[in-house]
Amino acid sequence: MRLDKFLTECGIGTRREVKDIITKDVVTINNKRVSSPKEKVDLGKDVVKIRETILEYKENRFYVLNKVAGFITATEDPKEKTVMELLPKWVNKKDLFPVGRLDKDTEGLLLFTNNGKIAHELLSPKKHVNKTYLVKLLKEIDEKSVKLLEEGVDIGGYVTKPSKVQIINNTEIFLTISEGRFHQVKKMLESVENKVTYLKRLQFGKLKLGDLPLGEVKEVTLTDIF
Ligand code: URA
Repeated sequence: MRLDKFLTECGIGTRREVKDIITKDVVTINNKRVSSPKEKVDLGKDVVKIRETILEYKENRFYVLNKVAGFITATEDPKEKTVMELLPKWVNKKDLFPVGRLDKDTEGLLLFTNNGKIAHELLSPKKHVNKTYLVKLLKEIDEKSVKLLEEGVDIGGYVTKPSKVQIINNTEIFLTISEGRFHQVKKMLESVENKVTYLKRLQFGKLKLGDLPLGEVKEVTLTDIF
């Protein structure tokens, strides 16, 4: 692979920017200084450094964001702020996209990847990947509502699959669903005559938000996901 392409794929900058970096004589391949963007990099073998920093080439990238409310889940939008704007500089954004969707006012775990196949696996209805949410409610929840939510409720022509409710207190629950229909959690609670006042995704399959602070990002690996 050409050096300029390699540096771009490592997230160092655009093709134009990495060409500038290369001309500054700070890039080495196997400790030999190089100054041409056309130099070749052998992916499995060569050690490429910018000054003393070794660059890691990753074909598949996975990042978890603790999403902040106020951002829509999209890669671009003419009007709204998107979740891409929450990704810090160190994240390699090339071909990166969010896996699934959280509403504008929802917080919590949002996975990003550049791997379409893995995204598809995680989102496929056949795979039943569990998602757990912290749900705060306008009204107190009763046993009858819990039973209905767990058995499946009609959210406008569709009956949801069984879910799991864990009560935190009268107006707060953990809800685990294995589907990802549009506004599903909000619609489920509406169907039992309640209303979501705050929603945060805590878990997506094996991935947990843990103590990742709001608005922060961490890199994860395939073994964290499956
Ligand atoms: N269900 C919702 O209603 N909203 C979300 O953001 C996620 C699940």
